[in-house]
Amino acid sequence: MTLTREIRPGVFWVGALDWDRRLFDALIPMPQGTSYNSYLIRGSDKTALVDAVDETMAETLLENLQSLSVRSIDYIIAQHAEQDHSGGLKKLLEAYPDAKVLGSARCLDLLVEFDLIQRDKALEAKDGEKISLGGKSLEFISAPWVHWPDTIFTYLPEDHILFTCDFLGSHLAGSSLFASDEALLYASAKSYYAEIMMPFRSAVKRHLARIESLAMDIIAPSHGPVHNRPRFILDAYGEWASDEVKNEVVLAYVSMHGSTRIMADYFVDALISRGVQVKRFDLTDYDVGDLAESLVDAATLVIGTPTILGGAHPLALYAATLANALRPKTRYASIIGSFGWGGKMLEQITESLPGLKVQFLDPVLAKGRPKEADFLALDRLAEEIAGLHQKLV
Ligand code: FEO
Repeated sequence: MTLTREIRPGVFWVGALDWDRRLFDALIPMPQGTSYNSYLIRGSDKTALVDAVDETMAETLLENLQSLSVRSIDYIIAQHAEQDHSGGLKKLLEAYPDAKVLGSARCLDLLVEFDLIQRDKALEAKDGEKISLGGKSLEFISAPWVHWPDTIFTYLPEDHILFTCDFLGSHLAGSSLFASDEALLYASAKSYYAEIMMPFRSAVKRHLARIESLAMDIIAPSHGPVHNRPRFILDAYGEWASDEVKNEVVLAYVSMHGSTRIMADYFVDALISRGVQVKRFDLTDYDVGDLAESLVDAATLVIGTPTILGGAHPLALYAATLANALRPKTRYASIIGSFGWGGKMLEQITESLPGLKVQFLDPVLAKGRPKEADFLALDRLAEEIAGLHQKLV
C-alpha cells in the first residue's frame, strides 16, 4: 500500500508514518509515534525531493514515488543529515542514480562521513541560493543549530511553502496531512521543542525572526502534521523561545523511605496555597517528555532527593543532568530532601546544573523524618518562591 497526498498542485507529501515507534535517540518518548516527511516538487523542467526518510522506511518512500510515476529526480534536498531524514538516501540514490544531493557544506560532509552519499553526488546549497525547477523554484535558507549545525530551510515562493525539517515539527503520526487537532499538536510540538530545540533557544529566536518576513501559507516540517495555519506554530515557538517564564515550579523528586515524599507533599501544598502552580514528578514513574515539556516555561526547578550511598539518588541526578542538557530558561532552583548521616547530595545536584543560569535558593534538608523546623523551612522556601514569582509579572 502506498500513501501520497497533494499539498498544492505539483507538491506532494511522499513520506512515511511510523505509528509504532516509541523512542527516539533511545531517550525521547513518542507516545503518538512520528512521521518522516518527505516532499516531492515537480516543476515543468525538473523534479526535486525534500528530505529522505529514516532508513527503516526507505522502501515506503520509494514505493510512494513509484506510485506517482516518478522516473527521475534531479535534486534531493538534504536539509539536515540526521539519519531519520537521510537514512533513506542510499536506496534513493540507487533508484535515482542521476540525482544530485543538495545541502549545506556541513550537512554534505556529514552525509559522506555517515557513508550515505558519495562526494561526487554533493552540491552545496548556500544561504540565499535559488534553483529553478521550471515554474517553481527553491530558495535555501541557512538555519544552523536547530538542532544540528547543518540545517537549512527550503522556501518555495511560488506556493508560499516553507520546508523546515526538524524546526516547527512534532513527533506525531496521524491520518490528517494538515494539523487538525491543535490542542494535541500544541502538546506534542511543545515536548518536541523541549527535547530538541530548547538548548538552542537563541538560534530558534534568530531563525523565527528571519522567516517572519516570508509569505507563508504552509509550513512543512519533516516530522508531524503540515501547518496550513502557520501562525499557530510560529506563535507557539515565539512564546516558548521568549525570555518570559511562568509562575510555575517543577518539582522532580524521588523518595526511598517516605521522608522526601512527606516533604514533597507538604511543599506542593505550601506552594499552591501561595498561588504558585506546580508540576510534580515522581522520578520512579514519569515520562521524560512530560518533564522536558514542563521545563519550557517554568520559573523554578526544585529537585527532591534522599541521600543514598553518600550522595543524591541516581534518579535525581539523572533528572538534574537532563535539565542541564535541555538548558531551559528557568530562573530559580532549589533542593529539598532528607539524609541520615550526611553526604554530598547538595553538591552533586548543584554541580549537575552548570548549564542553567539560575539563582539557587537555600535548600531544605531534613535529618530523617521531617520535623516542625523542616516544615517551617519548606514554608519559607515556598514563600520566597512565591515572592520571586510575583515579581515576574
Ligand atoms: Fe528529525 Fe534532527 O532529526
